Amino acid sequence: MSNFISARYCKTLLACAMLLSSYAGAADKLAHVTILATGGTIAGSGATSTTTVGYTAATVGVERLIAAVPELAKVADVKGEQVFQIASENMSNEHWLKLAKRVNALLAQPDVDGIVITHGTDTLEETAYFLDLTVKSKKPVVLVGAMRPGTALSADGPINLYNAVLLAASQEAIGKGVLVAMNDQIHAARDVTKTNTSTPDSFKTPELGMLGYIQGNKPYFYHVSSRKNTADTEFDISQLDTLPQVDIVYGYANVNPVALNALVASGAKGIIHAGVGDGSLANSVKTGLVAARKQGVLIVRSSRVGQGIVARNGEANDDELDFVASDTLNPQKARILLMLALTKSSDSKQIQRMFYTY
Ligand code: SIN
Repeated sequence: MSNFISARYCKTLLACAMLLSSYAGAADKLAHVTILATGGTIAGSGATSTTTVGYTAATVGVERLIAAVPELAKVADVKGEQVFQIASENMSNEHWLKLAKRVNALLAQPDVDGIVITHGTDTLEETAYFLDLTVKSKKPVVLVGAMRPGTALSADGPINLYNAVLLAASQEAIGKGVLVAMNDQIHAARDVTKTNTSTPDSFKTPELGMLGYIQGNKPYFYHVSSRKNTADTEFDISQLDTLPQVDIVYGYANVNPVALNALVASGAKGIIHAGVGDGSLANSVKTGLVAARKQGVLIVRSSRVGQGIVARNGEANDDELDFVASDTLNPQKARILLMLALTKSSDSKQIQRMFYTY
């Protein structure tokens, strides 16, 4: 019987007093969750209720996002903060540093139990992985977005936000690394990726598997990521205002080396090669990568395939070339790990160790 129903039936003064104090006790026990809003479609609006593409992202402020989901008050004591108001294709290294510092400062406070970050879905997986490597706390951090703006029929933002807050307020999410809550599912930051341009079930963890579900107002975990994260990483961004320049070069048939050479000439400290297959290198690009490595640029062989391990010394002799293999990290996540790795070391062996650790 719910408290509201039982209140109608409390017959004596003592029973009513006990019931009221149980309401107060329940409110006291609610976890304190801060929502950091950064923009995206979850804060977007369209011209009509059937506008599910061609809408404007990042128009609605955090207070309106929270007010649109009054059910949040049942699962957490929620506060909102507008950190940025951008479409996530404009997310930059500087945004990440600012966000990670704010998350670390909030989580150091005893009156903050968890953080939810509302974010555009286009680069959500990248921000999630950056925070997974730089947040210094075991408290829950959950990223959430929406594939449809709040004005659309069957908008997914409100339920996604509700689930994210519920997850960030839960005991189950403590110590699980940075999480992504989308479409009733829980994913690990390292392995989740956006797989569809527009459908609400876009976020997946292919092959390695999502961590669990949110159902019936409860998170259910079935797996945990075995890679080190958050408080267990060696990265410290507290004194950093910039990150080393690392860029991605895409592999394709008849590949033109001009992009690679231009990026190296522009001062890149690291290059992620998103190679075909198992990170294979076309001859025309291999020449440029070898020359770049001789100049001190760190080279990571990743793959454009999206699944599977890029084998060290497989399609290229990494020992001989002094290259690093990306393991299972996709190119955009390999870029994040290489930027952070370069803040600690320029030794390719150390950096290869990091790629097998995080
Ligand atoms: C964005 O990433 O900011 C726009 C797309 C989205 O949020 O789904």
